[in-house]
Amino acid sequence: MTFPIEKFNTLRTPFYYYDTALLDKTLEAIKQELRPNHHVHYAMKACTNPKVLRHIVDAGFGADCVSGGEIQACLDAGFPADKIVFAGVGKSDWEIELALKAGIFCFNVESVPELDIINELAGQQHQTARVAFRINPNVSAHTHTNITTGRAENKFGISMEDMVDIVLRTREMSNVECIGLHFHIGSQILDMEDFVTLSLRINELQEMLESYGIVLPNINVGGGLGIDYEAPDLHPIPEFKKYFDTFRQYLRLRPKQQLHFELGRSIVAQCGTLVSRVLYIKQGAVKKFLIIDAGMTELIRPALYGAYHKVENLTSAEGETTYDVVGPICESSDVFVKDYRIPVSRRGDLIALRSAGAYGEIMASQYNCRTLPASYTNEEL
Ligand code: LLP
Repeated sequence: MTFPIEKFNTLRTPFYYYDTALLDKTLEAIKQELRPNHHVHYAMKACTNPKVLRHIVDAGFGADCVSGGEIQACLDAGFPADKIVFAGVGKSDWEIELALKAGIFCFNVESVPELDIINELAGQQHQTARVAFRINPNVSAHTHTNITTGRAENKFGISMEDMVDIVLRTREMSNVECIGLHFHIGSQILDMEDFVTLSLRINELQEMLESYGIVLPNINVGGGLGIDYEAPDLHPIPEFKKYFDTFRQYLRLRPKQQLHFELGRSIVAQCGTLVSRVLYIKQGAVKKFLIIDAGMTELIRPALYGAYHKVENLTSAEGETTYDVVGPICESSDVFVKDYRIPVSRRGDLIALRSAGAYGEIMASQYNCRTLPASYTNEEL
């Protein structure tokens, strides 16, 4: 990725920079892979920056929300209500009411008590709520433990054993209609075998339902496709073909069944960069620290998950040395990367933290009374 460094030099750091040309290319790459029965609902939790959302709306995608706030953000951004799905283990009444009023496509329901409340609230609004059941397929994705969601011990979804009962139960309810099954096994998944396992598990479940005479019109396989954090310039666009081909090859859809995806990270991660400036170089007792003006408040993934984001000095190419790259926050975990080889850096140099488009800006906090940073796109600079 090339950065408009002269423009960057005039801006207050830290800030988020989004390359919408790369975003558009990424969206186009996905569209190339879509078939008429495929539907992508962008996972809003990855990034709700309106400048980013505009491109995703223009590409014709729907949205996947997990809160009333996200539903409002996607209505404001112009996503059509009938392409919105709403997941989450703890939907509040006002959030369900907002979704009903908006007329969303589908609630991804995670428990029987939740189903009862949706039925009741839909009744009050004289509506029928479309629901899909989020089934916990007990598949372990090979990713960070904090971001796997499809194992039996996770809080998400309804167990496979309860699936038939709950589907049959909706038939007796007057204000809900069951239109599908929903799955999501985790995030930052790079091993397609995990999606093979998911597909085979869905095939089994569909057969089980069929033995009760049930065929549902929609299958939603969630999100989770990972990106290359190590080499963002080598792989700016994830391997969408491999991902979609996996489902096409292994998932047995019934005639007219629609296939839904909830991609988040793979759409927006690589187009976003957190841009920061070097404040100080500090020689500690055993380590040399590169202290920058962005911290875990602007990009919490390294502190929270031990995640790696490539760090680049945009203004120096002079030799190489080893630093711990750290932020200014009063927390020992405010470290981006340890023992990192990077050109010799000076106060004022611009530092890029790459692949920050997903779960970067959206997870920012004001801890230490910091202000939330600005964002810019290549179109503006
Ligand atoms: N659908 C559901 C039901 C989800 O729970 C998630 C993510 C997605 C879709 C989108 O997954 P993606 O395609 O982005 O992998 N903050 C963490 C990631 C948490 C993901 C939570 N669920 C991180 O920074 O790695």
